[in-house]
Amino acid sequence: MSDTPTTESSEKISFPDPSVYLLNPGNSRKAIEAGLAEADWYQSPVPIEKLRALLVRKDGPAIRDTLLWFGLIFGAAAITIILWGTWWAIFPYLIYAALYAGSADARWHEGLHGTAFKTDWMNNALYQIASFMVLREGTVWRWSHTRHHSDTIILGRDPEIAVPRPPDITGMIKGLFALRTYPEYFGNLIRHSLGQVSEREREFIPESEFPRIVQTARIHLSIYLATVITTLVLQSWLPLFFIGLPNLFGTWLMSLFGLTQHTGLAENVLDHRLNSRTFLTNPLNRFLYWNMNYHIEHHMFPLVPYHALPKLHEIVKNDCPPPHSSLWSCWQEIIPTVARQTEDPGHHVERTLPKSCPTKNITPAKIAATFQQDGWTEICPSDALQEKDVLRFDQGEQTYAIYRDEDGNLYATDGICTHGRTHLAGGLVIGKMIECPKHNGRFNLEDGSPARKPVCKSLHTHDIKEENGKIKFRSLVESSL
Ligand code: FES
Repeated sequence: MSDTPTTESSEKISFPDPSVYLLNPGNSRKAIEAGLAEADWYQSPVPIEKLRALLVRKDGPAIRDTLLWFGLIFGAAAITIILWGTWWAIFPYLIYAALYAGSADARWHEGLHGTAFKTDWMNNALYQIASFMVLREGTVWRWSHTRHHSDTIILGRDPEIAVPRPPDITGMIKGLFALRTYPEYFGNLIRHSLGQVSEREREFIPESEFPRIVQTARIHLSIYLATVITTLVLQSWLPLFFIGLPNLFGTWLMSLFGLTQHTGLAENVLDHRLNSRTFLTNPLNRFLYWNMNYHIEHHMFPLVPYHALPKLHEIVKNDCPPPHSSLWSCWQEIIPTVARQTEDPGHHVERTLPKSCPTKNITPAKIAATFQQDGWTEICPSDALQEKDVLRFDQGEQTYAIYRDEDGNLYATDGICTHGRTHLAGGLVIGKMIECPKHNGRFNLEDGSPARKPVCKSLHTHDIKEENGKIKFRSLVESSL
């Protein structure tokens, strides 16, 4: 039995048909009307100074881990080549396949969030390479994962529900060998390379991204074509075993880790403690999975890099259900739950939350205006806003954010992200940019322009100055709120 306190829940209603999971305008509208789309999610309280320390981006840990990871992949490939033609080649090849098709999933994920490295091009390079390795098109999945974080396991909204109810056990077993992924991925590559984007994809991908989808699909197809040609020219299966077939033999590792994230937990709730799973595990698994075993923590605070998640766990653990003690403990909960859901799709594991925890969402602390003159509002003493810091500031019905960069320059913008209803004051000042805490989109602070997807629309900027030890603000336009 699982060692995590749970209660079982079985909704005694006839469960809706599987079409409720489809992303289409009708299902999306139902989720919006129920208040489940782009909603406010619960966040455990974390003291702001501790959160700021956790948010610090570093290159060192991810460079070390990535070099080690690629070293292991190339090492396993080299031994496979040496032993090729003997049965002994199976062992290094299976290690190669698991690293290539299994643990690449966690690298894909951190690269997507842009949190693995401090240096952006490194995040993007890792993301594109890992996307290719796990049979995903980078552009499509960037937007799909953005939606997954907005609407985690919300029916009709989340494109990444891995195990819809009732579970398809045969499909799950096929999934261990990527047998569902291959036809879907290559079908999508052909369709996208011809410029066709489906109705489902149009639900979560803006039209401005369509040319990039076409370009990525053509690049992926070209690499596979080159691999097939090399296989034919060399008259050796090796190229195909190294690019294309690893997913057949290595995807099981991705499923072993990845299905622990949400499988069997509640749907249509606005609290990641109820629909996500955290487990403790050994250093090898944490290396392979890049600390995504702290999955509740990751969903509540997606800005926190993987290497800081253990510290975040220590801060919030008393506000969360007890973590599973191991990977095995997760599967002891998942297997019987999924088996029961085949007969009783309304059944799910219902987490018991700590009694003392607050139930309301936490919004960033705000400061209030104290004095107004000539259109300028005196907001706070200068030292209340430190370098690389951001504060929320409300005036009337409007919400603003004020920032100081690492050189001491001040900025002021509207306070709510233009992509979703999120306070930017919960975000991170990086150089002359603010990174949104929800989907890691970024804005340039000097002019409010978008600096990283999924942000597409500019923020309004406002006047701000420092005088006699006080910070003063003047709104230039009506806020979009
Ligand atoms: S709410 Fe999506 S990037 Fe801000």
